[in-house]
Amino acid sequence: MSSAAEILARCAELDRYSAHRSYLERVYLSPQHAAANAAAADWMTKAGMRTWQDAAGNQLGRREGREPGLPALLLGSHLDTVPDAGSYDGMLGVVMAIAVVERLGDRIDDFPFAVEVVGFSDEEGTRFGKALLGSCAAGGTWDEDWWELRDKNGITLHSAFREFGLDPRRVGDAARRPEELVGYLETHIEQGPYLEAAGASLGYVTTIAGARRFKLSVVGEARHAGGTPYPRRRDALVGAAEAITTIERLAKASDCIATVGRIEVMPGAVNVIPGRADFSLDLRAETDQARDAMWATMCADIEMLCELRNLELRVVETHRAPSMPCAPWLTDAVIGGIRSTGDADPIGLWSRAGHDGMAIGAVTDIGMLFVRCFDGISHHPDEGVREVDVAAGLDAFEHAVLALADSWQAEAS
Ligand code: HGY
Ligand code: MN
Ligand code: MN
Repeated sequence: MSSAAEILARCAELDRYSAHRSYLERVYLSPQHAAANAAAADWMTKAGMRTWQDAAGNQLGRREGREPGLPALLLGSHLDTVPDAGSYDGMLGVVMAIAVVERLGDRIDDFPFAVEVVGFSDEEGTRFGKALLGSCAAGGTWDEDWWELRDKNGITLHSAFREFGLDPRRVGDAARRPEELVGYLETHIEQGPYLEAAGASLGYVTTIAGARRFKLSVVGEARHAGGTPYPRRRDALVGAAEAITTIERLAKASDCIATVGRIEVMPGAVNVIPGRADFSLDLRAETDQARDAMWATMCADIEMLCELRNLELRVVETHRAPSMPCAPWLTDAVIGGIRSTGDADPIGLWSRAGHDGMAIGAVTDIGMLFVRCFDGISHHPDEGVREVDVAAGLDAFEHAVLALADSWQAEAS
């Protein structure tokens, strides 16, 4: 298997491992996670790799270089999804990495490094709200506080780990040492409209945006919808609505990106003034400084509007990942790969979407190749890629790995 058509067929096959018949959802430590790992392991084996699942549920495969035990160039992406997902966010990168190993075959036996492929297990954070759990384990940044994170059914991460057959006490075994790795390269759909607008199949990533996620609670008073005159109201939902439009106004006037993806109103009856509104905030920017400055402004403005409405604001930060720059030496290999496909002037862009490189970057340098996707659509079943772009991406990714083997060879000799 080393063609774009076969890569697309495997991404379609992974769609089968979903928690729902009518739409794709595959979350951390679920039966669908186990099934996708098994499928990836089978393809890795067919590509001549030794396979294992690490102590955090990441699926790995390895093919040795010119001698056993060399540091590894790690290729891959993630196998988990958001609810009602498309078929390519994450999966394309894992399947393409396996295809490159298959294409290179015995040439890897002469490489100055081993080649590993990873299917990270929880890039999205769909189940427990904290993203990058699998790659944080691999990056050695697992936080023991996470064990008490609960999913929507109240199951803790600790229980889910054990139910999946993993030992929470051994999660540290998933951590990679810097000396084990040469670097990390990921192919991913762009999840934005910039390559399509430029008429480009491929692009290279300069840096991955840093993200912070919060749960904001606006607290007022539940009261009778008919009997309570406006001056007496402390309507939490109206306050949250004003906060949400404030967030949009501030973000649109900046280079930051802010999204409120979820809101819960209590008590949630049509004839009761909402006493509380909890909503999520996902805030990103090219630099952590810009992101953090925007958060300070947003928080101050929301506190002000809540005060004017006699409402209380509570804030819990649920996720924070620093922006992660791509290493020039890996990016040069990606640019060379894009050029090898006939694109003489490759486009570089910062990734508005988060990726596992933000976490594995704690222990090794990272590089990313972007593949154009239809209309920039992602996190939606209409997510799509052109076979011609996947073919270009496969050629570019293979070229980048070969170039790294040559340059690494140069340094090693
Ligand atoms: O949210 C993101 O940016 C990524 O797709 N998890
Ligand atoms: Mn995603
Ligand atoms: Mn992704």
